[in-house]
Amino acid sequence: MRLAKYLAAAGVASRRKAEKIIAAGRVAVGGNTVTVPQYRITEEDQVTVDGRAVRLPEKKEYLLLDKPAGYLSTVSDPHGRPTVLELIGPSPARLYPVGRLDLDTTGLLLLTDDGELAFRLTHPRFGVEKKYRAWVKGVPPPAVLTRMGQGMLLEDGPTAPATVRLLRRSRGSAVLEISLCEGRKRQVKRMCAAAGYPVRRLRRTGFAFLTAAGLESGTYRRLSEAEVRRLYRLVGLAAPMP
Ligand code: URA
Repeated sequence: MRLAKYLAAAGVASRRKAEKIIAAGRVAVGGNTVTVPQYRITEEDQVTVDGRAVRLPEKKEYLLLDKPAGYLSTVSDPHGRPTVLELIGPSPARLYPVGRLDLDTTGLLLLTDDGELAFRLTHPRFGVEKKYRAWVKGVPPPAVLTRMGQGMLLEDGPTAPATVRLLRRSRGSAVLEISLCEGRKRQVKRMCAAAGYPVRRLRRTGFAFLTAAGLESGTYRRLSEAEVRRLYRLVGLAAPMP
């Protein structure tokens, strides 16, 4: 990579400004001052600006998994139960799940080693929507759906407004779609139980703009750069370096 491009990718300055910094003799490669912006460097080269080391940001990983039931959304389990990381296989990145799905919940789970993005995607302040499909016992009438959407009092406080829709009904059971911007422990199950309609099966079908389209249960895919940039924008972060 050319030196000026490297400095720009490392976030030192824009490419144009980096060229000026180099021309001014402020940049050294392997301890030797280099004043040519086109100078080519390799991965092993030590680059300094004004004597301070400059490094490229580490490449982060962003994986979208369709979690099957029976896997814990943790990195490891003291009891040796299977975790979602076993579905990913060995990775040099220190991946962890963004938020949690219960052992028996299926569906979308993002895994990354990008701590700031993970924090913002799960914190209710940033309002990122997660969509669930809940198979419940009983058929809640419209008034109950409205009440669930307006906010329910759970033991850890009232829930924020949510969107709750009846997707299907049959004798004695129903399928609901519930969209939340919070992610409290077992929140969907507790909301439904508190309303009198216990969840029999739960699946996360949406995470921000991401869906499980093209994914099979137990498989994952890498997010595209455009998807990562879109997630960054969604939570008010400056786009990561290409
Ligand atoms: N709400 C729940 O009750 N369980 C989950 O796994 C996710 C959301």
